[in-house]
Order: sequence, then C-alpha cells, then structure tokens
Amino acid sequence: MLKKLLFLQTIFLWLPGIYATSFDFDSACNNIASQAASIANTTVFFSGVVPAGTNLSFTNPTCDAAGVASFQVTLADMCRVALNVSTSDQSGIIMEAWLPRNWTGRFLSTGNGGLAGCIQYADLAYGAGLGFATVGANNGHNGSSGQAFYNHPEVLEDFVFRSIHTNVLVGKEITKTFYGSPHKFSYYFGCSTGGRQGFKSVQEFPDDFDGVLAGSPALNFNNLMSWFGRFFDILGTPDSPSFITADQWSGLIHENVLKQCDTIDGVADGIIEDPNLCDYKPEELICVPGSNSSDCLTATQAEALRQVFSPMYGLRGNLMYPRQQPGGEDTIYVEGLYTSGTPISFSSDWFHYVVYDPSFDVTKLNLTDYQYAEDLNPFNIATFNGDLSAFKARNGKVITYHGQADILISPTDTELYYNHVAQTMGLPPAELDDFMRFFRISGMSHCVTGDGAWQFGQSLLAVEGNLTAENLDPDRNALTALVRWVEEGIAPDTVLGTKYVNDTPELGVEFSRRHCRYPLRNTYDRVGDSSVPESWSCQ
Ligand SMILES: *[C@@H]1O[C@H](CO)[C@@H](O)[C@H](O)[C@H]1NC(C)=O
Ligand SMILES: *[C@@H]1O[C@H](CO)[C@@H](O)[C@H](O)[C@H]1NC(C)=O
Ligand SMILES: *[C@@H]1O[C@H](CO)[C@@H](O)[C@H](O)[C@H]1NC(C)=O
Ligand SMILES: *[C@@H]1O[C@H](CO)[C@@H](O)[C@H](O)[C@H]1NC(C)=O
Ligand SMILES: *[C@@H]1O[C@H](CO)[C@@H](O)[C@H](O)[C@H]1NC(C)=O
Ligand SMILES: *[C@@H]1O[C@H](CO)[C@@H](O)[C@H](O)[C@H]1NC(C)=O
Ligand SMILES: *[C@@H]1O[C@H](CO)[C@@H](O)[C@H](O)[C@H]1NC(C)=O
Ligand SMILES: *[C@@H]1O[C@H](CO)[C@@H](O)[C@H](O)[C@H]1NC(C)=O
Repeated sequence: MLKKLLFLQTIFLWLPGIYATSFDFDSACNNIASQAASIANTTVFFSGVVPAGTNLSFTNPTCDAAGVASFQVTLADMCRVALNVSTSDQSGIIMEAWLPRNWTGRFLSTGNGGLAGCIQYADLAYGAGLGFATVGANNGHNGSSGQAFYNHPEVLEDFVFRSIHTNVLVGKEITKTFYGSPHKFSYYFGCSTGGRQGFKSVQEFPDDFDGVLAGSPALNFNNLMSWFGRFFDILGTPDSPSFITADQWSGLIHENVLKQCDTIDGVADGIIEDPNLCDYKPEELICVPGSNSSDCLTATQAEALRQVFSPMYGLRGNLMYPRQQPGGEDTIYVEGLYTSGTPISFSSDWFHYVVYDPSFDVTKLNLTDYQYAEDLNPFNIATFNGDLSAFKARNGKVITYHGQADILISPTDTELYYNHVAQTMGLPPAELDDFMRFFRISGMSHCVTGDGAWQFGQSLLAVEGNLTAENLDPDRNALTALVRWVEEGIAPDTVLGTKYVNDTPELGVEFSRRHCRYPLRNTYDRVGDSSVPESWSCQ
C-alpha cells in the first residue's frame, strides 16, 4: 500500500495538475475548427470531442503493412482535430492533434516508421493519455511505400524533415488557441525513422523541443539503405550457394552465436549483454566429412555469414556502415533482410523512387551505387550532423536508446553517431551526459520485443496499453524520465527494463535489468541472482 502511495506521489510530481481548469472544454472543441482555419496553409477536415475508451478506426489501408493498426482505443477525454497543411504548391501533410481535457501544459510530437506515411495512432493515444497535447502527421504521403517520392522532391523533403517541423509549428499554434495559453514544455518521441526524425530536429530545429526521446534511430540513412541492399548481394536468392535458410539463422547460427558469446557477461540467459565483445567465428560451423548437412554450413555459407557480420566499406575503403551485431538471428527481421531472396523493400523503394528510377534492377546494386546514393544525400537525410551545440545551449535534453539485438538498424551505428558528436563538440561522455544520454538495451530487437528486458515505457506497447503508476514511474519509463530530466533536472542514470514471462504481465516478471548509458557496460557481479537488477552494475 505504501509502495502504491509513493508511486502515486511520483505521478503527480511529473503530472503537475491541470493548466486550463477554468476553460470550457466542449465549447473550445466546438470552436477550434474555425479558429484553426486561420493558421496559414491549414484546412480542418474535422474536429470533435472523443471520450476516453473510444475505439477509433482509421482508413489508410496500406498502413497495415507498416505495422500501424487500423484502430486505436483512446485513453483520455480529448478534442480530436484532423488537418490538411500544405507545405508547398505540390505537397502537404495530413496531421492530427489530440488535445486532452486534462492538459498538463505539455506539448508532444510523435514520429513515423520506415518509409511510411502513416500517423502512429498508438503514439497519439499514449501522449494524450499522459496529458500531453499530442500531434502526429502522415510524413507527407499516405501508405507504407516510398513510391510517392518518385519525381516529387517536395514530398521527399516533407519526409526528411518538413513534416515533423510543420506539424510542430501548427500543433503549437493549435495548442495555444485551444487552451488559451501556450505550452510550458515541448517534447518529442519516436523510434526507427521516428528516431531519425527526433535527431533531425535536435540537429536542425533546436528550438522545436525541450526534450527528445529518439529510439533505434535510422541515422546515416543513405548508407543504411545500401547496407540493406548489401545483405542481398552477400546472401543472394534461395538457389545461390551462399544463401542461408530461415531455419539455419534461427536455429544453427543463433545457437552457435550464443554458444560463443552468451556467457562473456557471466550469465547463460540467451542475452549478449554487450555484442561489441562478441567476435563471432562462423568457421566452427563448417561441415566436415561425415557431418549431417542440416547441422553445418558449407564453406561458402560460412564466408557469407562472416561478411554479414563485417563492416561495410566503400569504394575508397571508407567506412559506410558498421557491422551487423550478432545476437538477433532469432528475430522477425531475418526474413525481410536475409531470406526473402530480394533486397528488403525499404532499400528497393529507395533506389527505385529516389536514387534512380523504377526500371533500375535492385538485384544488381554494387559499391558504385552505394557511393552514388551517399553523395546524393537528398535534403541531408543522412542526419549525421555531430554539432548539437544549439540544442545544448537552449538546455535541450535528448535520450536515445538502441536494442543490442536489433538487426534492422545496427546498434553500432548509434555508437558511431554518439562518438561523432563527442568528437565534433570536443566533449567527453561525462560532459555529453549533461544533455544527451544513450542507453544500450541488451536483448532488445528493433524498438520493441526480444529476449531482453525490453519494456521501459518507450511506447504504448511497452506499457501494454496500461497507464498504471508503476508503468509510468520515471525510473522505468523513458518518456516520463525525459520529462523529469527537462523539468526537474534529474537525469536518468539507468533505464530499468522489464521482461515479463511470455511478454504477458499477468504471468509475472521473468527478470528485470537496469540498462546502462554508453559507454558504460552493464556488468554482472557473478554472485547474486542475475534476474534482479541489483546483481549488475554499470562499469
Ligand atoms: C476495436 O475495433 C476493432 C475493429 O474495428 C476490433 O477488431 C477491436 O477488437 C476493437 N478493440 C476493442 C478493444 O474493442
Ligand atoms: C490539402 O490541401 C492542398 C492544398 O490546399 C490541396 O491541394 C489538397 O487537395 C488537400 N488535400 C486534401 C486531402 O484535402
Ligand atoms: C505556406 O506555404 C507556402 C508554400 O506553399 C510557404 O511559402 C509559406 O511560408 C507557408 N506559410 C506559413 C505561415 O507557413
Ligand atoms: C482528470 O484528472 C483528474 C485529477 O487528476 C482525475 O480525477 C480525472 O479522472 C481525470 N479525468 C479524465 C477524463 O482523465
Ligand atoms: C491520404 O489520406 C487521407 C486520409 O487520411 C485522405 O484524405 C487523402 O486524400 C489521402 N491523400 C492521398 C494523396 O491519397
Ligand atoms: C540430420 O539431422 C536432421 C535434423 O536434426 C535429422 O532429422 C536427420 O535424421 C539427420 N540425418 C542423418 C543422416 O543423421
Ligand atoms: C557497378 O555496376 C555498374 C553497372 O553494371 C558498373 O558500371 C560498375 O563498374 C560497377 N561497380 C563496381 C564497383 O563493380
Ligand atoms: C493494468 O495493470 C493493472 C495492475 O497491474 C492490472 O490489474 C490490470 O489488469 C491491467 N489492465 C490491463 C487492461 O491490462
């Protein structure tokens, strides 16, 4: 009981009351459409009060392919406003503002995923449920494909940075109009492409946010698209001698990776705490006379595997993208990346609709193309600027995190960027910690899920849609930790992640672990119970 009360106290500390107590929510929602129409370049589609618990459904069918659900249950009473904002005479965004009745005075922008033009409604529900005036946009186009970029540089420009920036400018304006006073603090959260969008804002629009939570960021974006294509170049189609089957990845290879590297951290739990220490040697799997061919690899396959785990160098020997980390061979991205017999759609779309044209044969991608794509860098989508001094100077805070078993975007790329910022700004980690902290999440796949303690409030899924005080405790919730850092100056030392049995809270906690901030490494003390965080420390 005492514990529960303490949690409640924490929650009220970071949700300090309701700002607009004296205003009439329902008439404000009635008026917002006509008021918003006076914002430049903006048309209101619809607006209206939506009670908490409403099951909203959406019609953007191709967004299912981007993992965006076609319905969402709301978690707070809110005024929902949908708008069309033009960004040029040939482009525009569709955006929504979810304005909760119980407003905390905070503004929040959400991001997107992949090449998608899909509003991430779960993110809006999470933000509004926590009392943020929350906005999200379709990134300048509809659906999960990159086809809309073809011969439409204005649409591409929206995707690279202008959609987020525009929805922030318009969203802040609507927030002020609706509640009758401007926001006190401005936040952002997103993962993957959403992580890249967060860093784009930190790099180029430092005034947009006080706090940014940028997960598994798709930084070094041009080379990421080429890195995807390179997996096909290495592994080929199912009839190629270098091809490795899905069963070999998730069985033979994953088990062998764990055999070589799981206990480097002192615990045989299926999680490689720091894959940088894993110098995986596939040669051990090469078939010898008499071995069962389903339990081994040919020399050609082993060589392909070695290349998958090697950094990608360019024509001039330049590092283009760091190595794939071992450990995620049992995750869902194996199919898209390694075994579909074609470059993953992000990569083929990028080369078809941005770098070249639809007639280009993406199965022929080579180093010349990779270099051409990097040099093209439209609207600086690389998002690798290491000078964050303007964001630091305005006292902004950024939390980034990356799953160490993420094979879709290598966690090593985020280390590379962190080190690049340190070098560019001439700041050692202890000083970077003043405004940017990077948490390495062991055993987590891309943004969510995995064998590790992957639930730490980074999205609505990561709190199982359940806004309990415990789930919102800033020690175990990266979003509320960001709020606490910005508003109370209490920076997160660690992020406490939870792994539930079968990812089902009702079945209880399997283990929990405090994830350390880079470059510290989570280290088991080799005596206590490894399933409790107290048996580990950051060194
Ligand atoms: C919301 O509606 C969808 C169909 O549009 C349905 O599949 C889903 O189960 C509903 N969710 C809840 C919680 O009612
Ligand atoms: C959004 O506004 C632009 C510019 O005014 C217009 O061309 C476009 O048709 C509008 N889109 C929708 C879906 O109404
Ligand atoms: C409205 O859109 C045009 C481009 O179509 C742009 O030049 C102008 O700056 C926009 N106005 C505002 C206030 O954003
Ligand atoms: C608004 O907040 C108050 C106090 O925190 C709470 O009692 C109430 O249930 C909330 N209302 C809604 C609709 O969330
Ligand atoms: C995008 O989807 C919105 C609905 O979310 C629709 O109003 C609009 O017409 C669509 N735009 C295009 C270009 O298909
Ligand atoms: C080879 O291994 C597979 C799977 O483990 C097994 O089903 C098969 O019987 C084995 N073949 C021989 C010849 O041992
Ligand atoms: C890549 O392919 C193109 C077209 O076939 C060819 O001209 C170029 O020399 C190739 N580059 C490399 C590095 O092999
Ligand atoms: C939310 O969490 C509480 C406390 O752990 C639990 O009792 C409740 O069943 C959960 N609700 C849902 C919808 O998961």
